Amino acid sequence: MVILITGASGLIGSALTEFLLQQGHAVVHLGRSPRTGKVPCYAWDISNGKLDARALKGVEVIIHLAGAGVAEKRWTAQRKKEILESRIQSSRLLYDTLSKGGHSVKTFISASAIGYYGFLTGEDGVTEDHPAGNDFLADVVRQWEESVDGMTTLGIRLVKLRIGMVLSDKGGVLQEIVRPIKLFAGAPLGSGRQIMSWIHIQDLCRIFHEAITHSKWAGAYNAVTNQPCANRELTHKSARLLHRPLWLPPVPEFVLRLMLGQMAEIVVNGCRVIPQRALQEGFRFYFPDLDSALSDLLLKR
Ligand SMILES: NC(=O)c1ccc[n+]([C@@H]2O[C@H](COP(=O)([O-])OP(=O)(O)OC[C@H]3O[C@@H](n4cnc5c(N)ncnc54)[C@H](OP(=O)(O)O)[C@@H]3O)[C@@H](O)[C@H]2O)c1
Repeated sequence: MVILITGASGLIGSALTEFLLQQGHAVVHLGRSPRTGKVPCYAWDISNGKLDARALKGVEVIIHLAGAGVAEKRWTAQRKKEILESRIQSSRLLYDTLSKGGHSVKTFISASAIGYYGFLTGEDGVTEDHPAGNDFLADVVRQWEESVDGMTTLGIRLVKLRIGMVLSDKGGVLQEIVRPIKLFAGAPLGSGRQIMSWIHIQDLCRIFHEAITHSKWAGAYNAVTNQPCANRELTHKSARLLHRPLWLPPVPEFVLRLMLGQMAEIVVNGCRVIPQRALQEGFRFYFPDLDSALSDLLLKR
C-alpha cells in the first residue's frame, strides 16, 4: 500500500516509517518543510491551508501524527493554543482536501492520546467506553478526535489510536527518565505512585499496522499494554538494569510544579488504561510487561 504520514519526522513517525517500509509498503511524508531522505516528503502550510497535492498520489492510507509537542515547552496561553490548533487545523486541511474527491484514500488513522480520559487515580482501568475527562489535555484530545470524525462522512474508514506513553530507545519519556539515572541523579517524580500507561514503540508500530490491514478496525482504540506501572516502578527498574543506585528522594510535586508550571500535570498524575478493543481484536503484545520492554530498550546494542 501507499501510506502517507503527517508529522513523520517525530519519534513515532520515524519508527513507523522504518516499520512500514520493512513490511513492504511505500511511504510518503507530509511535513512543514520538505526534506530529502529515504522516502518522498511533501510540504504543507497548515495555517495558510496549503498542501502539496502530489503528496496524495496513489495514497490509500493516511496516518495523521502531526501536532505541536505536548511536553516540549511550558504551557503558556500561546503554547496551549498551538498544541490545540496544530492538531485541529491540520485535520481540517486534510478533510477539506479529501472532500474535494479525486483521491484513492480509503483509511484514515489518527493519532490520539490517553489524555482523552483525564487524570484518574482509581484502581480500575479505563477502557475505550470511558467518557472524556475535563482538564486541558482531555479537552485538546476530545477536540482533536472530533476534528477527524468527519472522515467517515467521506466514506473513509477512521481509526483513532489513543496512544499512551511511548517507550523508545530513540527519545521520548524513557530517555528523559534514564538520563539522570545514568548520571547518578535519578529519582521518582512526585509521589511515584502515579500510574503510567505505556507502550513499547515496536508494539505501537504493530498496532498501526493492524489498523491499516484489518478493515474491521474502526473507531477509538487504546494503544497501551494492559500492564501499566507506577512511576517509581519504571524508575527503579530502569536504574537496576543500568546498574545505577537511586539514592535521591523522590522529586516533590511542588518542585515539579515550580519547574514545569501547569505542564507538571502530565508527570505527577496518571491514568490506568486498558487496551480492551485491541485485545478483543486478537492483538498480542510482544512487550506486555515492563521488564521485557526495558530489557529490550535499555540493554540491547
Ligand atoms: N510520544 C508519545 O508518548 C505520545 C503519546 C500519546 C500521543 N502522542 C501523539 O502522537 C503524535 C506523534 O507523536 P510523536 O511522539 O512522534 O511526536 P513528535 O516527536 O513531537 O512529532 C510530531 C511531529 O508533528 C509535527 N509538528 C510539530 N509541531 C507542529 C506544529 N506546530 N504544527 C504542525 N505539525 C507539527 C512535526 O513534524 P514535521 O516537522 O515533519 O512537520 C513533528 O515531528 C503526536 O500528535 C502526539 O501528541 C504521542
